[in-house]
Amino acid sequence: NGPCVALRADMDALPIHEQADVEFRSQVDGKMHACGHDCHTAMLLGAARLLKENEDLIQGTVKLIFQPAEEGGAGGEKMSNEGVLENPAVQRIFGLHVSAELPTGMLAARAGTLLAAAGSLRIVVHGKGGHAAMPHLAIDPVTTAAKIVVELQTIISRELDPLESGVISVTMMHGGEAYNVIPPSMEVQGTIRSLTMDGLKHLQSRVQEIATAIASANGCQAEVSFPGND
Ligand code: NI
Repeated sequence: NGPCVALRADMDALPIHEQADVEFRSQVDGKMHACGHDCHTAMLLGAARLLKENEDLIQGTVKLIFQPAEEGGAGGEKMSNEGVLENPAVQRIFGLHVSAELPTGMLAARAGTLLAAAGSLRIVVHGKGGHAAMPHLAIDPVTTAAKIVVELQTIISRELDPLESGVISVTMMHGGEAYNVIPPSMEVQGTIRSLTMDGLKHLQSRVQEIATAIASANGCQAEVSFPGND
């Protein structure tokens, strides 16, 4: 007899090896509940115990949602599609994320959006491989990829309203196997973040335009995609 309120904690593990020497550290090499997800899981279990102990005082229903795939794979959307917010229908839902920047015991919030919509970017620059001593016979995807990376930096700094937020970070560049061979292609990966879906789509379309145009100006071709969320 009352509203239905949900509390949500993410519980996915990440491909990181836990080096901390603590008793609750991961027992699986190369995988840990990083990003505070061990904390979140423990906190929601703690909330479950407190709520159960005070069940008589509660008018309504509290749903406890342990959500996988926060860091990629859109676990929240999947659980929602599978009906976790229905029957009974959830009227309010609360989630949080620990932050190493806040002192222990302090809670912080703000009006409006707090966490960004995130996506990844992947650009494969196709040129023409060749011997490093004869660059004129090749089409160099390395210099072209480098130009794309530099040019992407000005989307946020020169095109975005200074009062809006957005992030484009290039985090990986792969290409080449030998010091004296120009490789046929280069791969660039990274992340794009914005506080709105429209902002995210806009950043994606600018990445697409810039990568394609710089590649073609340098005789290369760019294959641009935005796989998965992370
Ligand atoms: Ni997280």
